Amino acid sequence: MISCILKAKTKFLIAFLFAVTVSFGAWAQASDQADIATKGVEPGAVATASDAGAAGDPAVISAGQSLFKNNCAACHSAGGDVVVGPGLQGMSQRHSESWLIKWIRNSQALIQSGDAQAVAVYEQYNKQAMPSFAFSDDEIKSIITYIESGVDAAPAGGTDAAVADGTQPVGDQAIGAIGGYLDIILVVLIVVLIVLVVTLLLISSILKNYLNKNKKLDEYDDEIVNQRFDLSKVYKSSAVRTIVALIFVVVLIDLGLDKMMGIGIQQGYQPRQPIAFSHALHAGEHEINCNYCHTTVYESKSASIPSANICMNCHSQIKTESQEIQKIYRALERNKPIEWVRIHNLPDLAYFNHAQHTQVAGVECQTCHGPIQEMEVVYQYSPLTMGWCIDCHRETPLNTKGNGYYDNLVKLHEASSKGAFTVASNGGTECSKCHY
Ligand code: HEC
Ligand code: HEC
Ligand code: HEC
Ligand code: HEC
Ligand code: HEC
Ligand code: HEC
Repeated sequence: MISCILKAKTKFLIAFLFAVTVSFGAWAQASDQADIATKGVEPGAVATASDAGAAGDPAVISAGQSLFKNNCAACHSAGGDVVVGPGLQGMSQRHSESWLIKWIRNSQALIQSGDAQAVAVYEQYNKQAMPSFAFSDDEIKSIITYIESGVDAAPAGGTDAAVADGTQPVGDQAIGAIGGYLDIILVVLIVVLIVLVVTLLLISSILKNYLNKNKKLDEYDDEIVNQRFDLSKVYKSSAVRTIVALIFVVVLIDLGLDKMMGIGIQQGYQPRQPIAFSHALHAGEHEINCNYCHTTVYESKSASIPSANICMNCHSQIKTESQEIQKIYRALERNKPIEWVRIHNLPDLAYFNHAQHTQVAGVECQTCHGPIQEMEVVYQYSPLTMGWCIDCHRETPLNTKGNGYYDNLVKLHEASSKGAFTVASNGGTECSKCHY
């Protein structure tokens, strides 16, 4: 009989809570829509563009455009497409202007400083280092203005007219806004859920107290009302034991496979060198060009390691008393090379050519070797696996500008395919390209 009462009360309770949830949800949605409406009217994006002082100034836009084309277009589109890095459309809504200036000047420094946004972007794009650009504030602002103008972003609406009335950016804003509201709705739902659980627990304990005090319960009802959660039953149950054992085995296999896949990968290898030569000091602080020491890196297959003579160009004068520099003199006196320990080393079955990547493709050293100019002691930054080579060949568009060799190939590609003309589409994933 009492269980009947209980059931009736529960039904009422569920109906009540359902009503509360629905009205709460409706309220949240209504206020969201109200917000979207106000945001849509207020032309936020246009305001930032004119803050930069030149929303419609064609001179600034074209200056930004040429900077972008020459420096950024190899890795970024002005629209929303991912090339190597993300599409830059809407970047000033994602980041503040001062952040963008810091990022473009030296993204690695910003990442190293622990800036949360920078770290997040870096992780999202597989930790590929973006090169640094020594641009002035105005130059960077002109790039931002150009991107915001949407001149090259949209195929149809991206004309100068769109720049003047700002249709393009407002549209972006609305899309961004809806994305933001999804988060808010999610949070509201979680709060509602927590409130629900707490209310249910409260009500059940009130009911229990009431029943225990005021009703005479028969044995069966008493057992239901005062039932206890018995932990020993859970861990004695064979189903639970099987699941735990299964999870354990799966984790073990996963760890084992990971370890086995890692065999032969030397990522992170950082041997001690015979002389405490620092790239951070030479290539970083004193900004000596990589090419000054690794003289063949733009012309030949291998990047040369500098001979002691190159060191002597400077160290016949600089720091002559230093213990470490004395080691260079000793090597020269004995007419023996300094025995640097080799770090990067592909197996003989693979063919890799520096000139093809640095000179022809224009890939920065840092893309493959990491932030060398910050390393006291060089370490292997990339895994140097076949998958690593192939992944990049699949994603990277060919640097065809001003390279007559590619003219006909580009035409052929455009006729047959809509996708980007990547290394892979030019045969860069064929076995014989990399294997002798
Ligand atoms: C060699 C390729 C490369 C070049 C050249 C390059 N970038 Fe990047 N950029 C990246 C990568 C990769 C990322 C993703 C973050 C990371 O992995 O470091 C990125 C990220 C960014 C971001 C952050 C985007 C976001 O939505 O959060 C901005 C802004 C940016 N780049 C601007 C520029 C500008 C401006 C230029 C030209 C002056 C430029 N980049 C040149 C590769 C490049
Ligand atoms: C002043 C001369 C000098 C300059 C400038 C210099 N390097 Fe080096 N680099 C060396 C020497 C010497 C070694 C060998 C010792 C070592 O590994 O530190 C080396 C080693 C390396 C290695 C590892 C080679 C291996 O064994 O696999 C890489 C990669 C590298 N340099 C890249 C760069 C890049 C990228 C730059 C420019 C940002 C640069 N270097 C600038 C002298 C220089
Ligand atoms: C273009 C000039 C230049 C070249 C080439 C050069 N260095 Fe240096 N090196 C410097 C300067 C500048 C310093 C910093 C001196 C100081 O801190 O006062 C330095 C410092 C050093 C130091 C630290 C010395 C100490 O005791 O603090 C070492 C070691 C060193 N260099 C090794 C080398 C080696 C090895 C090479 C050849 C692979 C080389 N350098 C080539 C300019 C050069
Ligand atoms: C596309 C990726 C990539 C780029 C870009 C790149 N390297 Fe390398 N680098 C490699 C690989 C792979 C090796 C190992 C080559 C081998 O073992 O045959 C290597 C090896 C080296 C070595 C050791 C000597 C050698 O040739 O084996 C030096 C030094 C070096 N790189 C310097 C540079 C410098 C300086 C730049 C920029 C001008 C640069 N690299 C750009 C991938 C790259
Ligand atoms: C950062 C991106 C990147 C990585 C990593 C990379 N490559 Fe490349 N590779 C390129 C680009 C871009 C080209 C196209 C150069 C051109 O225009 O010919 C290229 C071209 C080549 C070519 C000539 C292809 C042809 O069609 O003639 C070979 C061979 C090659 N890469 C081998 C390798 C090997 C081996 C590795 C790994 C050890 C590697 N690459 C890693 C970007 C990369
Ligand atoms: C972009 C360059 C590239 C292409 C294309 C490529 N490989 Fe590789 N491959 C490599 C590199 C680099 C290694 C060495 C990786 C390592 O040491 O981990 C390798 C290693 C291998 C190995 C392992 C050898 C060993 O001793 O472990 C095999 C097998 C292989 N490749 C087969 C192929 C086949 C088959 C194809 C064509 C379907 C192919 N590769 C295409 C770059 C390439």
